[in-house]
Amino acid sequence: MHLIKLSAAAALATTLALSMAMSGEAHAQAAAGPVKVGFMLPYTGTYASLGNMIEAGFKLYVQEQGGKLGGREIQYFKVDDESEPSKATDNVNKLIKRDQVDVLVGTVHSGVALGMAKAAKESNTLMIVPNAGADAITGPLCSPNIVRSSFSNWQPGYSTGVVVAQKGHKRAMTITWNYAAGSETVKGFTEAFEKAGGKVVKDLNLPFPNVEFQALLTEIAAQKPDAVFAFFAGGGAVKFVKDYAAAGLNKTIPLYGSGFLTDGTLEAQGAAAQGLQTTLHYADNLDTPRNNAFRKSFALAYKANADVYAVQGYDAAQILAAGLTAVKGDLTKREALTTAMHKTTVDSPRGKFTLSAAGNPVQDMYLREAKGPNNEFKSIAVKALADPARGCKL
Ligand code: PHB
Repeated sequence: MHLIKLSAAAALATTLALSMAMSGEAHAQAAAGPVKVGFMLPYTGTYASLGNMIEAGFKLYVQEQGGKLGGREIQYFKVDDESEPSKATDNVNKLIKRDQVDVLVGTVHSGVALGMAKAAKESNTLMIVPNAGADAITGPLCSPNIVRSSFSNWQPGYSTGVVVAQKGHKRAMTITWNYAAGSETVKGFTEAFEKAGGKVVKDLNLPFPNVEFQALLTEIAAQKPDAVFAFFAGGGAVKFVKDYAAAGLNKTIPLYGSGFLTDGTLEAQGAAAQGLQTTLHYADNLDTPRNNAFRKSFALAYKANADVYAVQGYDAAQILAAGLTAVKGDLTKREALTTAMHKTTVDSPRGKFTLSAAGNPVQDMYLREAKGPNNEFKSIAVKALADPARGCKL
């Protein structure tokens, strides 16, 4: 009896030891396995090309590192968010809960990104925003596990306001889609423009992603402001710039915009966009070894010209690489990982930049002019512009 008891205990001990060894092994395997990256991006609709360029840029950087970051293979998952805020929570949970990704990379649309950021915060999932400028992400929603490789909506708006005032314009009208990116960009523009003595006489808007601009263009023609400031992007930007020219307004009222108005769109806009001046944190022809090498590598890999979205995707991968390298691929070292991501200096094709405490790029904003297929650098509109990060408490 005693003997049997002993051997049962021994058997139990052996089973326990075995299962512990196995779970240890499984753990080691998981640690050595791929880092799961979940792209949540628009692959359909007016922002589809933006989503594709971000993914292409991200993958290019990973490829250039031999497919590994911090010694770990990268495995990709993707969800088309359709730039649809009402589906954001369901869509992001496909990546967080179903696919159990380690890092979320997304998205383009500010409204969708706000939903993602809330889910990332609640589930403590790492998130890198490769475009969406929603001010709140590096404002009230700021978090150690969220960083942005792009901009806040305030930044390009503000820097265009500086430029339009410098050109001597006094009365401006604004036009945009009625959602966070549009209203926040216009707010940044108005802040800088009015601080410099200008006056925004009227704000026009229409629902995203509508492109029925005619009535609004008629109103611009009637009001005759000195200048118009617009935020549109992707397919909508193509249509707006063409309609503005078709209405003859390009001959009478200068049009300015944050650079999304002409980025990744010049071919489709044709003559209508030529000469347009915009501000953004990137210009195609920045003549630096870093930008030249990036553009060459991108063109070789994809037979297409890089744009700002490709740069932001590429830099999202660089930020992740900084974190993973610091912890040698060990995702359990979360604090060291997020600290390294926040503290990195990104050697970007746009020029080197750092991240603010809130996790948003502190970056030079360029005045550019559309010439042929490029948004060409003209000057630095605002040097090392930092988002005010209103409402961020870390
Ligand atoms: C945004 O929704 O934040 C947004 C979308 C497209 C852009 C820029 C910002 O090009």
